[in-house]
Amino acid sequence: MSGPDPNRPGSFDLETGISSAVESAASAGMVLDVVDGVLELRAPEDRAGTGVRGEIESALRRRLETGHPLRRIVHGLGETPGPIVDLTGGLGTDTAIAAASAASRRVLACERHPVVAALLEDGRRRAVAAGLEPATRIEMHHGDAVDWLRREGEPPALILIDPMFPPRRKSSALPPKAMQRLRSLLHDADETPIDVDDELRTMLGAAERADAGRIVLKRPPEAIVPDTSLGPPTFEISTKLLRWSVWERRSRAE
Ligand SMILES: C[S@@+](CC[C@H](N)C(=O)[O-])C[C@H]1O[C@@H](n2cnc3c(N)ncnc32)[C@H](O)[C@@H]1O
Repeated sequence: MSGPDPNRPGSFDLETGISSAVESAASAGMVLDVVDGVLELRAPEDRAGTGVRGEIESALRRRLETGHPLRRIVHGLGETPGPIVDLTGGLGTDTAIAAASAASRRVLACERHPVVAALLEDGRRRAVAAGLEPATRIEMHHGDAVDWLRREGEPPALILIDPMFPPRRKSSALPPKAMQRLRSLLHDADETPIDVDDELRTMLGAAERADAGRIVLKRPPEAIVPDTSLGPPTFEISTKLLRWSVWERRSRAE
């Protein structure tokens, strides 16, 4: 499998996308700016340097446990051809883990929110500048993943879907600050609450039509897996906080 040109940037152009991202953050009452060469999102009361940042560089610097569920799921692809596509890129932690777990595969991250897309791309660029090889195989697309998938030709080896930061629960401790900031950016400001199950069905349907070898859904253990024509998952890996549901669609032998 040949990798892309290591110097090739992701399809999101940070230089042109940054002003609309800054405006979008400001309209949510937040600040998006660069501190010591790193793009970050903050609430006005947060100290500079403590904001939410793209995670690709930091995730690639962390030692990845061999038993990490995503790592096991990516290894299970064997020689199945095609890229890995993360439909819900977010800050890029899962994208980075997928890239680090696949020796030479192209990994594509889609992100529709302009602020999150800017953070994700900034993290990718920092990782490339730091010489972290998996980052050179990551590309990003700013826009709706389902639209992108419809236009894309090559069936992905794996499609990953991680749709929502888990809802706040009264009984649980407050989520970490990064999660609070992201939640207020993505969900709390939304006047029309997003129907997650509906979105999930759309994404799972798009993944099925794209003929992905494996479809992976990451959700909290108590969340239901919506009924779709995919039927029940082929297998699941559960941890205390997460459940990874996997639909095996094409085997490595095909
Ligand atoms: C829970 S976060 C993903 C976190 C990510 N797995 C990580 O490791 O950082 C979900 C992200 O998916 C994005 N998203 C949701 N639906 C999308 C869609 N249809 N197309 C592109 N991005 C989408 C949201 O904007 C949000 O940033």
